[in-house]
Amino acid sequence: MDRTKEILTCLRNAVDYVSGGAIARQMGISRTAVWKHIKTLERMGYTITALQGKGYKLSGIPDRLYPWEIEHHMQTRSMGRKIIHRDTIESTNALAFSYGLEGAEEGTCVIAEQQTAGRGRLGRPWFSPSGKNIYMSLILRPGVSPQDVYPLTFVSSLAIYDTIRILTGQEPTLKWPNDVLMGGRKVCGTLLEISTEADRVSCVIVGIGFNINMKEDEVDEAIRQKATSLFMETKKEYERAAVCGMLLTNLEKYYLIFKDHGGREICAVWEERSGIKGKHMEIVQNDVRYEGVSEGIGPDGSLLLNVNGSIIKIISGDVSF
Ligand code: BTN
Repeated sequence: MDRTKEILTCLRNAVDYVSGGAIARQMGISRTAVWKHIKTLERMGYTITALQGKGYKLSGIPDRLYPWEIEHHMQTRSMGRKIIHRDTIESTNALAFSYGLEGAEEGTCVIAEQQTAGRGRLGRPWFSPSGKNIYMSLILRPGVSPQDVYPLTFVSSLAIYDTIRILTGQEPTLKWPNDVLMGGRKVCGTLLEISTEADRVSCVIVGIGFNINMKEDEVDEAIRQKATSLFMETKKEYERAAVCGMLLTNLEKYYLIFKDHGGREICAVWEERSGIKGKHMEIVQNDVRYEGVSEGIGPDGSLLLNVNGSIIKIISGDVSF
């Protein structure tokens, strides 16, 4: 693969055709070997024009989340510096979890084109059709206790929020605890899973499902009223690798705030950005329904709800405004 990538870089950097002979000389391999690598690139979805007497030219890049395509678009030190890409997988969170247990480095990222058993919050499935959206799981090692992990959900939502704003110019809505909405429907969700050792968290998996190019008629009927995508909101298609790169860059930015200033700071930024304070809302937690006015977010990420003068701390549940 390294040689194939070298040829890809060579074609990418060239302004015009590059001859097979020149590539072969530069890499110290035969012209037949060059041709074989070109065929590999074509099988991967790259469009390469070959012209007798002139050589090869890169004329199309596939819409695939190859690590080297994402790398072009990110400015990070650790987030996504190692990307594991799969075509089809049950769940990126499940694979990231096993890599996490094996000691994978902080910032390692598992990405798939499609999930066959994508997991959502509260045991729900996550609709994950092929080649349309982003399904990504990050391995983090924040070195905190389990009760301090929760604000990492906000790290993810804030990074998504910034990414959407930059890409579309629209302001999404942040909905407690982990949703990002556009036009009142969910465009992205985050699922945290943790592994603990003694009293410390050994790794946190931040799983992000971000709907990008999915069209209305491609959405599962069961969630059509509730789900949206960047395409559905803006009628534009987005280069998913570029979106991933931007998202990883934004994730690192907020993760550094979490590490340097603690979860309280992230909760405060999220509270501000969501405008949640003072909103009238209804929450169902463990089958119990609460109705009240939000007093904002606690330092641990919980939602503080004023129900007839008493403050109730909500730690999980479904919210409706
Ligand atoms: C939610 O219910 O809002 C959370 C959805 C999280 C879905 C993502 S997709 C990538 C990662 N892998 C999974 O199986 N789930 C998360």
